[in-house]
Amino acid sequence: MTRKSTPTTYGTVAVSIHWLTVILIVALLASGMLADDTTDAASKAEILSVHAPMGIAVLLLTLARLVWWWRLDAWPEPLGGDLAWQEKAAKAVHALLYLVILGMAASGITLFVLSGAGAILFAGAPGPFPDFSDFAPRGPHGIGARILLVLFAGHAGAALYHHFIKGDATLRRMWFGR
Ligand code: HEM
Repeated sequence: MTRKSTPTTYGTVAVSIHWLTVILIVALLASGMLADDTTDAASKAEILSVHAPMGIAVLLLTLARLVWWWRLDAWPEPLGGDLAWQEKAAKAVHALLYLVILGMAASGITLFVLSGAGAILFAGAPGPFPDFSDFAPRGPHGIGARILLVLFAGHAGAALYHHFIKGDATLRRMWFGR
């Protein structure tokens, strides 16, 4: 298996970034909802001190992934066997996933800066810990999380459909080894 993709399969760089991002997004959705449900300020701060660095890691991975595809690698060719609308839907979901991930990272970072939470957690600034609902980016961050959940479910559902129902290589070629 090569670092770069071939016309038939994804390379190790694309596969590594893909699965690392999946793990981080699941952890971000879970930790974000947990923080939202937590009323105790100290516990909320503890959860968010892990949530924020993971969000920044996803941002960096996504930017690296965009540069990787744009400058250094080329997508494998479609496997064929799909209807035209299915290929179009897959492309639209992939583009939206990039867009929503970037929007989530941007709104999260802005929320941290505007509310002062970043300074409290990472620069030793004095509290009290802010109420995020007072700050405008909190709304888009919550809506973005729900949109991301729907896209994520559609994307993973389609991959599982290809693997278990159609029995093709869609999911297999986004993994290591041959
Ligand atoms: C792709 C990246 C990210 C994802 C998927 C994500 C996910 C989430 C989710 C699901 C929530 C709960 C929303 C709700 O239930 O309404 C949340 C809340 C939050 N996130 Fe993120 N997040 C990301 C990036 C970030 C970053 C980079 C930061 C800060 C630097 C951040 C800071 C926050 C804050 C402050 C809250 C509010 C918690 C509360 O209101 O109690 N997030 N996030």
